[in-house]
Amino acid sequence: MAWTEDLSVGNETLDQHHKRLFALLAEMDLAGAEAGGFDRVIQIFSQLTDYVAYHFAEEEAMMEKSGFPFVDLHRHSHQTIAMRIADMAAGLDGLNFQRVAGDLRIFLSGWLIHHIEIEDFEYRPYIGKS
Ligand SMILES: [Fe+2]
Repeated sequence: MAWTEDLSVGNETLDQHHKRLFALLAEMDLAGAEAGGFDRVIQIFSQLTDYVAYHFAEEEAMMEKSGFPFVDLHRHSHQTIAMRIADMAAGLDGLNFQRVAGDLRIFLSGWLIHHIEIEDFEYRPYIGKS
């Protein structure tokens, strides 16, 4: 589970964002594997929430600027994922954090790959390398 070249959306900035998301998931994996990792899991959830919000906002702004016609649809998909992460974070406690960290990793890595390959690839011809 890592970013690979075939996930490139053709834009260096957005590729860097996607790499950072995968890196945070890898950190979540490590923290979730530790019996004493609760504080770390909370911390990574918080970093992930902030970074996802930042990345989605940047990506949406770039889509808008580029004239990509399906920004609203794409934004809706982003909102759904942000809500799902918030729900998972809200349900975290000292007993379930290892399971929740694992669930998040499985769910978000699957979603990320699917989202990048299907939805993000749609804006490739619009956004370009800028
Ligand atoms: Fe996206």
